[in-house]
Amino acid sequence: MCLINFKNVDLDKKIDFLPNTKTNPKTLETLFGKSAIMPMWVADMDFAIAKPIQNALIARVTDSGFAYEYKPESFFKAQKNWYKNQYQIDLIKEQVLYSPTITTSISVIIENFTNKGDGIIIQPPVFMEFREVIRKVKRKVIKNALKLENNHYTIDFGDLEDKAKKENNKVLILCNPHNPVGRVWIKNELEKIVIICKKNDVILISDEIHKDIILFDNIFTSALLFTKKWDKIIVLTSEAKTFNLPGISDSMAIILNEEIRNSVKETFNRYNLGRTNALTRVAFETAYKEGKPWLGKLIKTIEQNVNLIENELSISSSKIRMIRPEGTYQVWLDFRSIFNDTKEMLNHVTKYSGIGMNAGRWFGREGGLFMRMNIATNTENVQNAIQKIIKAVEKRK
Ligand SMILES: Cc1ncc(COP(=O)(O)O)c(C=O)c1O
Repeated sequence: MCLINFKNVDLDKKIDFLPNTKTNPKTLETLFGKSAIMPMWVADMDFAIAKPIQNALIARVTDSGFAYEYKPESFFKAQKNWYKNQYQIDLIKEQVLYSPTITTSISVIIENFTNKGDGIIIQPPVFMEFREVIRKVKRKVIKNALKLENNHYTIDFGDLEDKAKKENNKVLILCNPHNPVGRVWIKNELEKIVIICKKNDVILISDEIHKDIILFDNIFTSALLFTKKWDKIIVLTSEAKTFNLPGISDSMAIILNEEIRNSVKETFNRYNLGRTNALTRVAFETAYKEGKPWLGKLIKTIEQNVNLIENELSISSSKIRMIRPEGTYQVWLDFRSIFNDTKEMLNHVTKYSGIGMNAGRWFGREGGLFMRMNIATNTENVQNAIQKIIKAVEKRK
């Protein structure tokens, strides 16, 4: 795999990469108080994209102009094959809508099917944009917090049922695989969720953007598997995370229910959200056709990084606990037995390690004494980073 070479990165110097969010000195300054930091936060990768995708993009840019584009049959065919081979899902072209981002689709769905003040259930600690989107469209965030027992997160089904029963709580946003805690929900858990949604007429939005990064022996199950049991299920996804293409990605809303689909489609059309971008089309068609070997290597690297962190924590007898991820390229580190205060944890760890991770608080109060570490980087960086984090914690009296 082609990796960005970090050998010359000096943590005391300004990092001078592409103008991406993760390394933007101003953003680092705002978030971490200084820009000389090893950024291991926002969820994109330090890896160069797969060679076939890069070649296809170069050819596309070299060959012709950029007239209005459409997604040709070859795109849908490649996409259909990908979903069939990866997940045994039979994608039906007419049931797939496109929008610029997943969060765009969440806003549209919430606005179309709920009223101002209605409740939208989320399962914190969870991807912070869920909360932000709900607030922006003036709905209420209803929390069905995850339970953490024996280093393993589970769903509080009793609480979910109570929340779903309330008439004004009309939508559940599920994150599968779950960012940041790394759970890949199993069939039985999904089935229970679907039963609760059906019983209480709750629309289930399943955000499956992390579906391709499944680690170790875990198996991903899409909520699409349950659409015969409950047809108010909407799957939002894209391969932006999978192939490190968020800068040129659009996203998909897969909706089997015709009435829901038509309503969402009508709004997408009204705002002209479905227009494609030439580079998106080329990158993803190539990814579907030729990206599998790269993805295989990526997953192996992430697994290696997870094992490495576990090993470093164990040999150092550190009090930091890692919640072993089943999917995603994030690890969720538990600092509860070291710190009592979120701010102190963030300041201390950042200051003494020089590593910029997401404070768990971003994902909700429930993540307060945790940090999310992005491990989509080379193994040497991960080793360096975790050793620095361990040392930083040891400095705390
Ligand atoms: C669960 C989840 N959904 C959605 C996104 C972002 O998707 P988009 O940029 O298409 O809104 C992320 C990005 O980190 C994510 O973790």
